[in-house]
Amino acid sequence: MPQTREEYLRLANDLSEHSRLYYVEASPTISDVEYDALLAKLQRCEDANPSWGVDWSPTKRVGFAPVSSFPKITREVPMLSLDNTYDASELRAFHDRVVGGLGDEPLQYVVEPKIDGLGIELTYRDGLFVLGSTRGDSLTGEDVSSNLRTIGGLALKLREPANLVVRGEVFMSREAFAMVNEKRMADGEALFKNARNTAAGTLKLQDSSEAAKRPLMVTLYEVLGADQEESTITSEYQQSHFETLARLRALGLPVSDHNTVASTWEELIAAVEGWAESRHALPFEADGLVIKVDNYAQRAKLGSTSKYPRWAIAYKFPAEQVTTTVLGLSRYVGRTGAVTPVADLEPVELAGTTVKRASLHNWDQVERLGIGKGDRVLIHKAGEIIPQVLSVAEKVSEKVFAAPTECPSCGSTLVREEGRVALLCVASMTCAGQLQESVEFFAGRKQMNIDGLGEKLCGLLIDAKLVSNVADIFTVEAEDVENLDRLGSLSASNLVEAIAVAKRDATFSRLLAALGIRHVGSSAAKVIAQKYTRMAALFELADIDDGGEAFLEGLCAIDGIGAAIAQSLFDFLHDATNRSVLESLAERGVDPVESIVAKVEGGLSGKTFVITGTLSAPRGAFKARIEEVGGKVTGSVSKSTDYLVAGEKTGKSKLSAAEKHGVEVLDESKLEALIAG
Ligand code: IVH
Repeated sequence: MPQTREEYLRLANDLSEHSRLYYVEASPTISDVEYDALLAKLQRCEDANPSWGVDWSPTKRVGFAPVSSFPKITREVPMLSLDNTYDASELRAFHDRVVGGLGDEPLQYVVEPKIDGLGIELTYRDGLFVLGSTRGDSLTGEDVSSNLRTIGGLALKLREPANLVVRGEVFMSREAFAMVNEKRMADGEALFKNARNTAAGTLKLQDSSEAAKRPLMVTLYEVLGADQEESTITSEYQQSHFETLARLRALGLPVSDHNTVASTWEELIAAVEGWAESRHALPFEADGLVIKVDNYAQRAKLGSTSKYPRWAIAYKFPAEQVTTTVLGLSRYVGRTGAVTPVADLEPVELAGTTVKRASLHNWDQVERLGIGKGDRVLIHKAGEIIPQVLSVAEKVSEKVFAAPTECPSCGSTLVREEGRVALLCVASMTCAGQLQESVEFFAGRKQMNIDGLGEKLCGLLIDAKLVSNVADIFTVEAEDVENLDRLGSLSASNLVEAIAVAKRDATFSRLLAALGIRHVGSSAAKVIAQKYTRMAALFELADIDDGGEAFLEGLCAIDGIGAAIAQSLFDFLHDATNRSVLESLAERGVDPVESIVAKVEGGLSGKTFVITGTLSAPRGAFKARIEEVGGKVTGSVSKSTDYLVAGEKTGKSKLSAAEKHGVEVLDESKLEALIAG
């Protein structure tokens, strides 16, 4: 761990550099694990030496207090928009105007994907990120710095102490968009329509730690001062757009890798046509191309109207939407039990593939759109991949598909959680639609850890009807399995052995987590298991005839357990099928009792310390010893602090804070005495 401020700063700098290599250059030189280890080291160093911290530290991307609204900012140079063209003839007219304005000067265009995101402006002072704002109404935007900081590719510190204002686009990759929606689907939340809306929603989240969970990206394409007279902070980038982009990259800022150049009309139209197909291969959605004159002197010569620059134009790709007929409606049971509607369609060509099915998201959507069999619907591809129904183009049938009341796979009654749109099959342990995933999950390394029982073997056991719920795993015998798919006797006995080991080593918390109960992940399972130690205790509490009051109260009293977790566990335990599976598990010897981890109950439990100044050993050593006897060490003195441990050269501010809050100040020998009791 860094021992001096200089070493600390060097480490913070190295990490910023690794982050740049990863996000901006896409060529990391260390592994994610190594990066995380260095980051943890930096964090420990900051915890031990709070006064050393810097705002640009890679640890400070999240953790700012949530805001209730975003402060407005005003800017002097408006964020202009671009004029749009939709076909070759309009583009030709733009080219002719440019050539007309420049005479026979040699001309070069830069052709860039038009990223479907949100325009933003970033300000750096002395190389440090100080402000990031939305485009807003062009002159007034909102300060969304705290959310922008969470974007890995956004440098918090440039590689040189430059002053500049840059503009660009914040967006979400198709992959991240799919991930966010998958999570929302699993949580039964309404899905986002497209990556752009998701990025917009993320930028406006009030809690930056939530924003950090939705990975955004940023690409910069404009520097103020380069091509606009009203230059605010810098005017060092003067020649051309291409040079500017290279300079930005050298400073550590993300710029597009996908730009091409064209000098003649023929080259320009060839570039545009080339993109019609290749845009589908971009990792993000592009709704068109931006064509810009490269040279700044020429840009100045062409000038701007009040709305648009005359030196650039957007070429919008044709909308990719078609209509087709609804043949029927399929109901799918997802991994988490959500039953979702999918429209079966008359096959139709859309953006390069034949589409036969399109997602309808959820049953509210079916009702809202009023879709029935035989209707003509308008479809498109969300994220240019997943076909979705946008609207009913022509209502043909008189009916609307009804939401199911029973699970199409197992027939159990579906439930709709309050405030959620998804219909759920809660028979997660027996529903065939969920069985494969739930058995795989149960056997997973972090759950029951049944070595070798992965996707393939689970599938074989289920297909052979040897396993129809997780309890059946513990009845599997070697001779049943050795003939499956020529598995052989060795694999069969290995599996049986692995099952026996898992049974022997099971803990209640692992079992609880392995059941895949909504909201009950491994950390919730751990704290619940510490309090209730075995399944029977939970049943006993859940069976009290008071509508669940005692159960919810008991569970919510645990630190880290809230009403959603408690309610979900209560519902799970009250489902007859789930209960019979749990009984079978117990009969088959899977009914572990959790061993209680003794809480550190030392003489200093409940006491809070702050350590400062120079001591005879590193602060971390004192911290560890205080924690051993139950105390807690924090970074700053407040009214909840009990002791300030002050070494040599303790700063005045800490001492006066201690005085203000009536905190007892200890020197090293007094601390030793306190620890010794
Ligand atoms: S240049 C004055 N380049 O599209 C020129 N804009 O409709 C400023 N956009 O407001 C824009 N990708 O938010 C430019 N490569 C790109 C772009 C891009 C996306 C957005 C930007 C702008 C809007 C114009």
